[in-house]
Amino acid sequence: DKPISITKLLAMHTEREKITMLTAYDSTMSALLNRCGVEVILVGDSLGNVIQGHSSTTPVTVEQMVYHTECVARANTHAFLISDLPFASYGDPIQALDSAAELMRAGADMVKLEGGDWQVDIIQYLVARSVPVCAHLGLLPQSVHLLGGYKVQGKSKDAASHMLEQALTCQAAGAQMLVLEAIPSSLGERITEELHIPTIGIGAGPDCSGQVLVLQDMLGISPGKPPKFVKNFMDGHQSIEAAVKAYVREVKSGKFPGLEHGFAG
Ligand code: KIV
Ligand code: NA
Repeated sequence: DKPISITKLLAMHTEREKITMLTAYDSTMSALLNRCGVEVILVGDSLGNVIQGHSSTTPVTVEQMVYHTECVARANTHAFLISDLPFASYGDPIQALDSAAELMRAGADMVKLEGGDWQVDIIQYLVARSVPVCAHLGLLPQSVHLLGGYKVQGKSKDAASHMLEQALTCQAAGAQMLVLEAIPSSLGERITEELHIPTIGIGAGPDCSGQVLVLQDMLGISPGKPPKFVKNFMDGHQSIEAAVKAYVREVKSGKFPGLEHGFAG
């Protein structure tokens, strides 16, 4: 298979073929996701929780993201690789470019940053210097200490319209992809319809261009009660590979996410 490019992902969005994305932080899982046909691998700063055992993503550093991006990239044969810019690593355009360049040297094809119109300068600066950008709206884990917890976003009519505006602003600034986390399914659908770039949902309903989950969550091995949008794909499967293949199948067919994984407006 040819490596997946941004052009291919844009075409999938246009043709309404669902995009599959999962996180990976190491080479073994990167190889496995490639074998299972996952199109996009996210080296998420969720590694702060999953790998490092922190209760938020804010302690994660660029150096740590570089290390895990290198680990994933070594085994990546054809997935599109996105790495998160971690907390406080993109405070101004210069710092953002330095951080993004490190992630790209480590093997990232695109960087992801949290936020909307307050990041427009950063998005424009990066894209003008050939760093592809994925924006992230809805629940923003890097802002957990500001928000006072992990809560569903965009529930009121005003908050929903505001988020749609933010999405359009990020697109206009040059973002080529958008992650939507923990928002009403109806809002996920509306934003996806209004944009020409792919939306990737995690708790954003079935109508996004694609879906993402944290790998350990969908394997049912994360401690504690999983968020509502998580499905344990090890249920009924005998191996990690079979579970990931089931995820790919269910995202492609529209079986996942189901109604029970979504939020009402
Ligand atoms: O860090 C991460 O894993 C993410 C996904 C949950 C979208 O940002
Ligand atoms: Na993240």
